[in-house]
Amino acid sequence: MALYAMGDLHLSLGADKPMDVFGGAWEGYVDKIARGLSVLTGDDTIVLCGDLSWAMNLEEAHADFAFLASFPGRKLLVKGNHDYWWTTAAKMRRFFAEKGFAGFEILHNNAFAYEDRALCGTRGWFFEEDDRGTHDEKVFLRECARLEASLRAGRALLPDGAPGEKLLAFLHYPPLYEGYRCDGIVDLLDRFGAARCYYGHLHGAAHGRAIEGDYRGIEYTLISGDYLNFQPARIL
Ligand SMILES: [Fe+2]
Ligand SMILES: [Fe+2]
Repeated sequence: MALYAMGDLHLSLGADKPMDVFGGAWEGYVDKIARGLSVLTGDDTIVLCGDLSWAMNLEEAHADFAFLASFPGRKLLVKGNHDYWWTTAAKMRRFFAEKGFAGFEILHNNAFAYEDRALCGTRGWFFEEDDRGTHDEKVFLRECARLEASLRAGRALLPDGAPGEKLLAFLHYPPLYEGYRCDGIVDLLDRFGAARCYYGHLHGAAHGRAIEGDYRGIEYTLISGDYLNFQPARIL
């Protein structure tokens, strides 16, 4: 039984937007993902941290989900900024049931147990002070509310007094990177006593701006697919 995480698969099996053209880690990336996911067994859980598919709707994402469903284990889905196929949880669950795609769960305003830990998550948001009062701020505040709901649900899964090390957060956007800190998100992670935060979204040269390791008592880790060469990060 193991817990893994990886973000940014950017699958395009039903559409024509393969990432191989970017070269480097992206060359042959679907084969790499297949090799990476081959470690999964039926008891395992993987958190897929957003930018899963380039598809514009669920039907277009069919081939991508069929590919992912061919690997065993539970797959928790976090929304990324490119996941235009994402719709309501009810519609996504109906799609998975109708197509016979087992093992997918939506990590959105909720939390899931993994052994004695709670897995929380949401997309997150880049927010700069300059954007105060704009649409961005509205989206950002909604994301904070989602993260708070998820962390609260996670806390409710743990016994009273359980230490924060039992609370793990999975975001698409990095709460921190060089020269930037998303205070609303970082403060929530601090307040709920999360132990670790995994995030994706950063690609190629942007990997160099990632901040990893301990920050105010929380361990931050970048897990975007091209950063991991598409080998899922083993967390537990
Ligand atoms: Fe991405
Ligand atoms: Fe992204």
